Amino acid sequence: MSSFEPLVFSGVQPTGNLTLGNYLGAIRKFVALQDTHDCIYCVVDLHALTVNPSPKELTDGTRSIAAAFLASGIDPVKHIVFNQSRVHQHAELAWIFNCVARMGWLNRMTQFKEKAGKDRENASVGLFAYPALMAADILAYRATHVPVGDDQKQHLELTRDIAQKFNNDYSSDIAGLGLGVPMQVGDETVQGFFPLTEPLIEGPATRIMSLRDGTKKMSKSDPSDLSRINLTDTADDIAKKIRKAKTDPEPLPGGTDGFEGRPEAENLVNIYAALAETTKDAVLGDFGGQPFSVFKPALAELAVEKLSPIADEMRRLMADPGHIDSVLASGAERASVRAEKTMVDVKRIVGLSA
Ligand code: AMP
Ligand code: TRP
Repeated sequence: MSSFEPLVFSGVQPTGNLTLGNYLGAIRKFVALQDTHDCIYCVVDLHALTVNPSPKELTDGTRSIAAAFLASGIDPVKHIVFNQSRVHQHAELAWIFNCVARMGWLNRMTQFKEKAGKDRENASVGLFAYPALMAADILAYRATHVPVGDDQKQHLELTRDIAQKFNNDYSSDIAGLGLGVPMQVGDETVQGFFPLTEPLIEGPATRIMSLRDGTKKMSKSDPSDLSRINLTDTADDIAKKIRKAKTDPEPLPGGTDGFEGRPEAENLVNIYAALAETTKDAVLGDFGGQPFSVFKPALAELAVEKLSPIADEMRRLMADPGHIDSVLASGAERASVRAEKTMVDVKRIVGLSA
């Protein structure tokens, strides 16, 4: 618990097509949170640079994520939608956080280990420092809540570690300048400048798995397009991918304990539950004992019903890139005002620009 104003922030990288995993694990939550919170949603184009997209991929990808945000129902007028590189304070605060975060902390990041692979010496410094930029995204607004999928949990722990170390290292400067906000840390109330941001990782869709391998996350970057449903897939593509999804010869179990050793079956039921906004048990109540030849067409129909309106709206928006750019520019203007306020205080705290 803290006494910071509640604020939701999240980001999505413009690399590759958005998948059903991104939609269910993140974007759909972004939409729901708008009713109860002040929200800032960011297309993190600087993060995308860590995987070396071509300039055209990066520009098109940025517009396409923005289009997906809008098509899914994010309101860029009541809330803020923008792309990261337009608000220079993110990069500026990231540098300060590079000097707060420890090598040892970043060395433990599993996403870095996965992305860098065996040849770590050849990984970019940006890929290594990626989580410090992510912390800057969030803390530039002193955001209190971050909706993400399960794979981002470790990065959010690091964000808290950075906030806490900054608060501790500069505690007397923060207090001296009167910039502290009372916050609960364990049993104690302390003064801090940055909140200890809470991840919002809950619900059935925190980890949607690949359609080809129920033990691997569904990912934009999987070489097989059959492994994922893209938000822009046509109804035929969706039906084909679900038909071809890996399963086993058994019918669906009557209860969730029957998923033992059947990750692909569990994943498909989980996707159905998430799309229908119900539970796996309820889905098994309807489909337990049925073969996949009955369940898969029902899942395909549900997926098409939920996703095709979004895909249609994304296509309509993508036909007018000027409009998307103006939404992003206006969001960035409003975001900059808030981020600059934080940066001015941070610079005073650390002793920059007297
Ligand atoms: P990214 O595409 O890595 O920028 O991810 C954007 C958001 O989607 C993050 O909050 C991720 O945690 C979430 N996400 C990505 N893949 C999945 C997945 N397979 N299941 C659930 N959430 C996901
Ligand atoms: N690292 C996140 C991902 O891969 C993207 C991201 C960047 C992000 N900055 C963020 C997510 C800030 C939440 C908050 O999905």
